[in-house]
Amino acid sequence: MIKIISVVGARPNFMKIAPFVHAIHASNARRRDPIDHLLVHTGQHYDEEMSRAFFQDLGIPEPAINLEVGSGSHAEQVGHTMIAFEKVLRKEKPDWVVVVGDVNATLACSVTAKKEGARLCHIEAGLRSRDMSMPEEINRLVTDRLSDLLLTPDRLSSENLRNEGVPEENIVFVGNIMIDTLDVNREKAASLNIEGICAANRITEAISDPSIIPRSGYALMTLHRPSNVDDRAILSSLVNFVCREVAVQMPLIWPIHPRSEKRLKQFGLWDTVIATRNLVMLKPIGYLEMLRLNMDARVLLTDSGGLQEECTVLGTPCLTFRWNTERPITLKENGGLSMLVGNEVDRIRQGFKWALATDRKAVRPELWDGQAATRCLQAVMDAAQRMN
Ligand code: UD1
Repeated sequence: MIKIISVVGARPNFMKIAPFVHAIHASNARRRDPIDHLLVHTGQHYDEEMSRAFFQDLGIPEPAINLEVGSGSHAEQVGHTMIAFEKVLRKEKPDWVVVVGDVNATLACSVTAKKEGARLCHIEAGLRSRDMSMPEEINRLVTDRLSDLLLTPDRLSSENLRNEGVPEENIVFVGNIMIDTLDVNREKAASLNIEGICAANRITEAISDPSIIPRSGYALMTLHRPSNVDDRAILSSLVNFVCREVAVQMPLIWPIHPRSEKRLKQFGLWDTVIATRNLVMLKPIGYLEMLRLNMDARVLLTDSGGLQEECTVLGTPCLTFRWNTERPITLKENGGLSMLVGNEVDRIRQGFKWALATDRKAVRPELWDGQAATRCLQAVMDAAQRMN
């Protein structure tokens, strides 16, 4: 019997692990020799809205173990996770550890798994922004360097790994597992009511009235990258732009990340934001709610990686507040719908004009077909046999 531990830590991990866990359950229902599987949550994200809500929305079973690591500096997060995860590995002795994405939990558990002699599989391998100031890029490089099996979402990522000398037999192009989650949940999300989502999640101090939200023709924004929200001058210029140039043209919905809320308050920008009439400030919202809002947004303003991909498949023009991306397949020059606008207002303004002049157009890159999780599990089982 093969024993697998899969790991999640932070919000963007949950939509990637859900289909993998479901694929294991489906496979176990058919097997004589079931996979022994444990889900470990490192606890990097712990707020109800940042964690538990996603388990509920996506039908992920309660994690077998929660390391409850919580927030802290990167070294604190990674260090505490490694110490706690090492104990789990020594007790459980899995054959394989499966990690997803690029957050601190991914890095910490990869290093620990390898040191404890488990085989390591990385789902969403090979993405490269080539920007070493991003913590996620460091996490990706280390995780991929240590992984025995590297499952990639697109051919460009496989090529990146080949160029770094990863042996061909360790790379499997499986497609984008997050799109499995999108496909499964699309119908359920479509039944939600936009005004209802805004009313239920609004930050009550904000003066905006959620009933201003039309069925479509609104802008949707998320911001959380340290490069955008941790610098007072940059965050001020972004806030000024969206309040004075976006929210005057159309309603703007902004579900706020805890990091960004803290910074807005610290930099004295909170009062401006909540006093903007057309800007509907929301608490962090669940997966289905975000999917619903994205489906009818006129434009999405974001610095998230995953949302660039979801916009591609849903057909929402997306302005990405970054100078580079590890997901070039989503860019408009490569057939997607995302435009890199950095965090300079002139460029964002140009991008905003482009987005308003661009019609929705859904695009499906190769193997973003809703079946990636089955291919991931098959790849793990094949590799387990080959590397036995
Ligand atoms: C992390 C990931 C990032 C991902 C993002 C999605 C890393 C290096 N970064 O960034 O790649 O895009 O998650 O959200 O792993 N906080 C809470 N409650 C929570 C979680 C966080 O209040 O449940 C606050 C804390 O003040 C914390 C801060 O948010 O210090 C940042 O959290 P952290 O997990 O360190 O990084 P994120 O910015 O969320």
